[in-house]
Amino acid sequence: MKQASQRTAGGIRRNVVFVTGTDTGVGKTMLTAWLTRHLRALGTDAVALKPLCSGGRDDAKALHAANGGGLALDEVNPWHFRLPAAPVLAARREGRGVTLAEVVAHASAVTLRFEMVLVEGAGGLLSPLGEGFDNRDLLMALRATPLLVVPNRLGAVNQARLVLGALPKPLQKRAVVVLVDQRTKDAAARTNASLLSELEPGVLICPLPWLEATANGIPARGVKALDEVVKRLQG
Ligand SMILES: Nc1ncnc2c1ncn2[C@@H]1O[C@H](COP(=O)(O)OP(=O)(O)O)[C@@H](O)[C@H]1O
Ligand SMILES: [Mg+2]
Repeated sequence: MKQASQRTAGGIRRNVVFVTGTDTGVGKTMLTAWLTRHLRALGTDAVALKPLCSGGRDDAKALHAANGGGLALDEVNPWHFRLPAAPVLAARREGRGVTLAEVVAHASAVTLRFEMVLVEGAGGLLSPLGEGFDNRDLLMALRATPLLVVPNRLGAVNQARLVLGALPKPLQKRAVVVLVDQRTKDAAARTNASLLSELEPGVLICPLPWLEATANGIPARGVKALDEVVKRLQG
């Protein structure tokens, strides 16, 4: 697939998706794994990366499994640190450091080998990743399409708007917000999507139901929702 045809008018790449969100623990890894498996099942040669991990490599292992063997674990996740803290602090603790250029070079090399690459950040959009850069810097350097994971509960409209507002305008226009249902739905879960579209006209919003907590295989209930996310990402 030619790279040029993969860019929007604003120069944002449709074939590189950066999965970030409002926080850690919001469902980025689950969504990235399910989406990668779904894209592959649809015939797209997609892989997922988790360039930086700290405090264990569980995310990278889940994505490695979802990739179906297309990449070695060390390619999915070249930088991993023991301390369960922000990667930049965990790296310092080990006397190491990662630069934005190194991460961009790795992710860019992978994008040349596959039709679609999903990159999972660490923490939320403004969480620090390495020396002098955070998730937003990496997203922007990659000219990636932002996929924003937001828990669908009271407060979601504020959280989604804060994250959207932290993106430059062209990226805001291309961002896809995934509202992830929680195990127990509160009253706001029913109105968040419509209120968010009212306040942020044009923003692409996809609901994701609460599914079985597994990154292996795709629960049937999730397939329609994943189809919708794919449609939005490619639209
Ligand atoms: N849509 C969902 N359905 C069921 N469980 C989910 C869903 N999204 C996330 N989870 C659960 O929430 C927890 C955090 O998800 P995870 O993907 O690891 O978050 P993050 O990558 O943002 O830190 C995991 O235990 C996961 O199983
Ligand atoms: Mg994760």
